[in-house]
Amino acid sequence: MRLYALALALLMAVSRPSVAGQQRSAAEIMDLLMWGREPVGGPFSLIDHTGRPRNNGDFRGKLMLIYFGFTYCPDICPTDLQNIGLALDELGLAADEVQPLFITVDPERDTAEHLKEYLSLFHPQFIGLTGDASAIRAAADDYKVYYAKVPSKQQGGTYTVDHTAFIYLMGADGSYVGFFPPGTPPGRIAETLRKQLAEHP
Ligand code: NI
Repeated sequence: MRLYALALALLMAVSRPSVAGQQRSAAEIMDLLMWGREPVGGPFSLIDHTGRPRNNGDFRGKLMLIYFGFTYCPDICPTDLQNIGLALDELGLAADEVQPLFITVDPERDTAEHLKEYLSLFHPQFIGLTGDASAIRAAADDYKVYYAKVPSKQQGGTYTVDHTAFIYLMGADGSYVGFFPPGTPPGRIAETLRKQLAEHP
């Protein structure tokens, strides 16, 4: 009986709604995002890949494509960043109306210089953003992004970062439009962007 009570208490502790400062699980966060249970987006104050302070207001008037990831990511991040770059290429001149942003979830290793070098591989318009751990965590929480450091399995390896990988589309007024799932092909991203630009010139 005591054991049952203990199990129940533990269960309640786990399923209790999370309070500020407590990290939510990947499943909880994905659930919030996918079913629109909480607002997505919000103000951020970060440092760009040239070392300049940037906040969300700097990008008003343009659509924003926001991606949270890290430069050491072996596969998902590079694929999605490449897709964003190709979508912008497809847009031609209209790409000027779109600002792609890459926010690192690994600020420890992703310095401004490192972001600059990495993002130049994908598209010249990319702006990389980093900041201190608490600023990154706050931005990720606002966008319903899950990330957590995971020790590397390789011997002598450091760590990797487990993270959700959605591409967020924000309107020219900074409000949330929706997300593209990981692996969305460039043509589909371009089509949605074109539609957004036509509807909200
Ligand atoms: Ni990644």
